[in-house]
Amino acid sequence: MYYSDDVIEEVRSRNDIVDVISGYVKLKRQGSSYMGLCPFHSERSPSFSVSPGRQLYYCFGCGAGGNVLTFIMEYENFTFQEALKMLADRAGIPLPEQEYSEEARRQKDLKESVREINKMAAKYFYYMLRSPQGERALKYLTDRGLSDETIRRFGLGYAGQYSDALYRYLKGKKISDQLLRESGLMQVNERQGMYDKFWNRVMFPIMDVNNKVIGFGGRVMGDGKPKYLNSPETVIFDKGRNLYGLNYARTAKKRYMLVCEGYMDVISMHQAGFTNAVASLGTALTSQHAMLLKRYTNEVILTYDSDDAGVRAALRAIPLLKEAGISTKVLHMEPYKDPDEFIKALGTEAFQERIDRAENSFLFEVSVLQKSYDMKDPDGKTRFFQAVAAKIAEFELEIERENYIEAIAGRYQISFEGLRKMVMNVLMQGVPARKIPVRQQQPRPEKEEGTLRSQRMILTWITEYPQLFDSISRYIQPEDFSDELCREVASMLYEQRKKGEINPALIINHFTDVEQQRNAARLFSTAVNVENQRELEKAVQETVYKVMEQAVARKSRELDPTDMKGLQELIEAKRRLPEIRKLHISL
Ligand code: UTP
Ligand code: MN
Repeated sequence: MYYSDDVIEEVRSRNDIVDVISGYVKLKRQGSSYMGLCPFHSERSPSFSVSPGRQLYYCFGCGAGGNVLTFIMEYENFTFQEALKMLADRAGIPLPEQEYSEEARRQKDLKESVREINKMAAKYFYYMLRSPQGERALKYLTDRGLSDETIRRFGLGYAGQYSDALYRYLKGKKISDQLLRESGLMQVNERQGMYDKFWNRVMFPIMDVNNKVIGFGGRVMGDGKPKYLNSPETVIFDKGRNLYGLNYARTAKKRYMLVCEGYMDVISMHQAGFTNAVASLGTALTSQHAMLLKRYTNEVILTYDSDDAGVRAALRAIPLLKEAGISTKVLHMEPYKDPDEFIKALGTEAFQERIDRAENSFLFEVSVLQKSYDMKDPDGKTRFFQAVAAKIAEFELEIERENYIEAIAGRYQISFEGLRKMVMNVLMQGVPARKIPVRQQQPRPEKEEGTLRSQRMILTWITEYPQLFDSISRYIQPEDFSDELCREVASMLYEQRKKGEINPALIINHFTDVEQQRNAARLFSTAVNVENQRELEKAVQETVYKVMEQAVARKSRELDPTDMKGLQELIEAKRRLPEIRKLHISL
């Protein structure tokens, strides 16, 4: 971390979390906190809570949570440094000069420079498109049906007709060859030296979620090859972690995202009002893409090309999306090749209709599977249904299996009972043991989950009602928390209490990445439903008892038999257990 803890804490404490989040989310007071619709997943009823007392937020739906810095990092997709800078500016706090390590400074400078160069290039291409040289390019885009507004919104441009135009332009701005090499915009060969990667192409700037240009795609006007050239990966451009159009799609706030193959498809869909469309960047969808999508949506509709390659791409994407917790549908584009052509031919309403009729991804997989069997041959048909039964058997829940059996039976002329028996057969013997969905195999995690929950509840109460601290700390010490994170956070809380005030938002500062901050915030936001003071008292009492009982059990398991002091402490702790039942709590 480059800034001192004091500076970070000053920035955090001078930005009231309710004020800041109100700028992004409509919040409504509810009891001691504020509630609103979570900006990190789509929902209809509010489960996003902001606590002014603790200066924390937490979503009971998706688990997003943290302090005001976490919020800005998550919402704006900023690094910690960027979030700190923004909030410091907001509160009018001048940040001291950062102390970078040599390497950190070099990396930061490099990234900033490469970003700056890409921005200059985007402006240059944008300008060229409107210059006399760009006349043909502009005509190409308008002939493809793009409006002036769309061209502007996506920052489209033209790379001049000479192969050293951008090079000379950037040299004129005193950029070193070394930096140009890192920018991804140049090519080097022994005879010619350095020259432009893109020339005489229509340019599509690729923006990250903060609308910063990180690379380009360039298309020939007409039939030349290659059709598209793309920036190589650079210090700022990671193709596996960025999606074209996501900067706009992320704010579309639709229930689902449309994922397609191409730049032009994204642009056409946005122009037609489908502003929730994104594309991977000339690469197959990766699991990182899937996780990125999951931050914004739970459902994806694949709008890949209708050719074989598109079908294969969909078959590859479906399991990755499923793995990330996204449910997928597949849109049928026939007889058109891609969304751009479809919308041009049949228009917006017809496209919306196809969206509404998009096929469940499992049924899509089955319909592809069917093509490799001869359904007119009785043997072929049997083998097809066996393959389908094996696929259905992979679903974990019985209700899922039943639903799919019903759907398949309806579609492929087989009786529900017949197919159900085949699935049962697979479940009884056909599948390797690990695939058989046996539910009650692992009762342990559930118990551990309960243990963890009790520990989180204790931390939540301590922060919500600091008055409880003294009663609780008479029994529970930080080392009594079996969960590592709980233990770490508990020590910090106890330490804070010793010095004065409890400050949970400050604890979040100790964790640098969003995932850790989220987990820590969760410790302070484990809700219990209690109707009144009496119930709360009872719940606290029971939970303290539970945590201590488990701590005692753990200690006696782990006790070294020669450790006399440890043994005495254990006996004392056991003796005090029943006392907890009499623990009096008043708020
Ligand atoms: P397509 O060939 O389907 O092109 O490539 P398209 O999107 O329909 O383009 P138009 O409508 O002819 O202009 C889909 C995507 O694959 C990548 C690009 O990202 C493109 O948008 N691609 C394609 C390349 O990177 N290089 C190529 O040569 C072709
Ligand atoms: Mn196309």
